[in-house]
Amino acid sequence: MSTSPTDTDRYAFLPGAPSYPTIVAGDGVYLIAADGRRILDAAAGAIVGNIGWGRTEVAAAAAAVMPMGYVVPLWPTPSRLALREELVEHWLPKGMGHVFFTSGGSESTDSAIRLARAYQVAKGRTDRWKVIGRHPSYHGMTTGTMAVASHSTRQKGYEPLLLPFPKVPWDDPEQVLKVIEQEDPATIAGFIAEPITGAAGACLTASDEYWRTVNAVCKEHDILLIADEVMTGYGRTGTTWGHQHFPFHPDVIVGGKGLGGGYVPLGAVAATDEVVESMRGSGFMYFTFTGNDAACAAGTEVLQILRREHLVQRSADMGVVLERRLRAELGEHPAVVDIRGRGLFFGIELRCSRDAVMMAALERDMWVYPAGSGPVSDAVMVAPPFVVTEAEIDDIVARLRASIDTVMPS
Ligand SMILES: Cc1ncc(COP(=O)(O)O)c(C=O)c1O
Repeated sequence: MSTSPTDTDRYAFLPGAPSYPTIVAGDGVYLIAADGRRILDAAAGAIVGNIGWGRTEVAAAAAAVMPMGYVVPLWPTPSRLALREELVEHWLPKGMGHVFFTSGGSESTDSAIRLARAYQVAKGRTDRWKVIGRHPSYHGMTTGTMAVASHSTRQKGYEPLLLPFPKVPWDDPEQVLKVIEQEDPATIAGFIAEPITGAAGACLTASDEYWRTVNAVCKEHDILLIADEVMTGYGRTGTTWGHQHFPFHPDVIVGGKGLGGGYVPLGAVAATDEVVESMRGSGFMYFTFTGNDAACAAGTEVLQILRREHLVQRSADMGVVLERRLRAELGEHPAVVDIRGRGLFFGIELRCSRDAVMMAALERDMWVYPAGSGPVSDAVMVAPPFVVTEAEIDDIVARLRASIDTVMPS
């Protein structure tokens, strides 16, 4: 396929955006550009491609059901039933048998906010509407998810946000208790948290004490605890879910990204049987594309590949290698503030421009994910597909070192 410079310029919704290579194929941890370059995808796209690229079996699973066309979301289909069963049998914690499908992360987090409200109303607590968010955090780009998150660069220009949802710091348990007390627990429906903060914090990780406090205060006041596992879910941090590293037990788990593996737009909101049973008969409106059949078929195949190839364990094992190499190569670099993360989910906080590092990496045919907001002004994230080899990790770290060196020499 040939593309002219005009085509690629016009592809950007807003004029003046940087131009990126046109991608025509994928292969393992590489994206193949129209000009033949193999681009090392050190961030699995937008941290979605857990199983890597070029998986024809995922395409085949989707193609096999596509001819059926559309079925309203309330009606079961074999693909919907199979994905639900795969999730409940093999992925979700015990006691979470109810799953609401969506077409991605923002729809999932937004639905979880709605679920928190609906749950409280079903229990007759109509004064409860607030959902506590954390500073910094990212939960998506719907107006609801923007209001509950704290990502200064992605929110800039959209203020005032839709609702004045209260925020707590990402790391301070005392402040969590103080804010909940000040706001009045009788007005709070939910608490949403990324187990390890992704795009906004480049893998900021709170202490066990923090999570113990959040867990306890939410249970005490029956505030729905929502784990936003859109980035951290489906093995990214070396465990099935990111929250499993910490002492907290969510009532709701929200996932997207790795569920469709980057092949299809797919998300899922799972809630405990207790929560869903208490809402019996209330109704919970779906999106038109809730449970899109081809997406469900592809998602089931993605999850089965993860299990068949033991890729969650591989994420843990290769994460140890990645951390060791990052620390050896960049631990003492003057441009590096901190290196942190778990599994194949690492943030490198920088003293120099993340965009400059990202562009320098692209010049070396590698993609890293720019991140940071609020207390983390600049960072990049390294989060390759779980099929990454040790040699490819060496290559990622070497190219990252060279990219940082060009922006801020050591
Ligand atoms: C933690 C988290 N929640 C929600 C979202 C929104 O997901 P999406 O971009 O698929 O709508 C993202 C996206 O980066 C995310 O990282």
